[in-house]
Amino acid sequence: MSMIEMIKAKARANVKSIVLPEGDEPRTVAAAAIVKKEGLAIPVLIGNPDRIASVAKEQGVDIDGITIIDPENSDKAEHYTNELYELRKSKGVTPEDAAKLVSDPMYYGIMMVKLGDADGLVSGAVHTTGDMLRPALQIIKTKPGMKVVSSSFLMDCPNKNIGENGLLVYADCVVIPCPTAEELANIAIAAADTAKVLCGIEEPRVAMLSFSTKGSAKHELVSKVQEATALAHELAPDLLLDGEMQFDAALVPEIGASKAKGSPVAGRANVLIFPDLQAGNIGYKITERLGGADCFAVLQGLAKPCNDLSRGCCVEDIVNTIAMTSVQAE
Ligand code: ACO
Repeated sequence: MSMIEMIKAKARANVKSIVLPEGDEPRTVAAAAIVKKEGLAIPVLIGNPDRIASVAKEQGVDIDGITIIDPENSDKAEHYTNELYELRKSKGVTPEDAAKLVSDPMYYGIMMVKLGDADGLVSGAVHTTGDMLRPALQIIKTKPGMKVVSSSFLMDCPNKNIGENGLLVYADCVVIPCPTAEELANIAIAAADTAKVLCGIEEPRVAMLSFSTKGSAKHELVSKVQEATALAHELAPDLLLDGEMQFDAALVPEIGASKAKGSPVAGRANVLIFPDLQAGNIGYKITERLGGADCFAVLQGLAKPCNDLSRGCCVEDIVNTIAMTSVQAE
């Protein structure tokens, strides 16, 4: 069974409600119908019901039984406005601002998740990553013990000899452009958790990547990864984590053994932490495009799960992301 099939099986076993703020977007409507039919989640579409019905009709999609919420005519809008105002007044948000924000499907959906009216949220087929992330960061906030929100890419590689039977978790590839050492340590701990929760990897082995292995090069960028490694050890002493190390030392047993002798991670890592967003984003795309891996992105560290889509996503990507969000909500 592929990794995504395993994730879907988990989602079916414990069905959660997932709100879709881009409710009249054609791929999202089609994905909602599949998710409902396959029992992967209870989808909730946000938007104008007439518009959503006409999109469904144009596409020949059956949305019977799917809940549609129109923020313009919702009896919860006032409650959400008051709560949003309370949450953001210290940031200068006025009651009028809060009412306007709640009429925006993205903020409405985020408030549903915040207040427990939905278990998770998936968006980004239309919104940019920043526009999807900002309300989640401002309102949902980080989960206890986490300092930052970041992302992991779950890479299902054709070469089953690497990582965990071909599975690798890459972080951070989406959110934090230039993490501090403390943020890198947080990213590593969150990615190990994602590996356990979503990929079912019982023993995450985390490599802190660099262009240096165990002091082979000296540079301030290397020092940052070394500092992050030490901090992660302090924060999660039981986690199998090591660094700094190069990509090949992390994955190839012979190179790991020669460059990082005695390391519990080198040569057998299944979670790879990139030193910054440029490296992480480029790295996952190389693995996808040249290495032939299937890849799936999730946000991690949020108090409740919200996930971003690529604007170039297809219906299947949205279905997969809804299934992953449901599993994160368990
Ligand atoms: N974790 C937790 N909270 C955060 C984080 C974070 N990583 N980043 C910002 N915040 C909080 C801030 O503390 C602030 O909270 P407050 O308003 O309560 O004080 C709020 O979020 C907004 O912070 P800003 O600094 O104003 O947000 P900014 O406009 O810088 O946006 C964002 C943050 C969207 C995450 C930004 O860092 C970003 O654009 N990152 C890159 C995203 C991107 O374009 N990725 C491209 C790859 S996408 C792909 O390939 C699939």
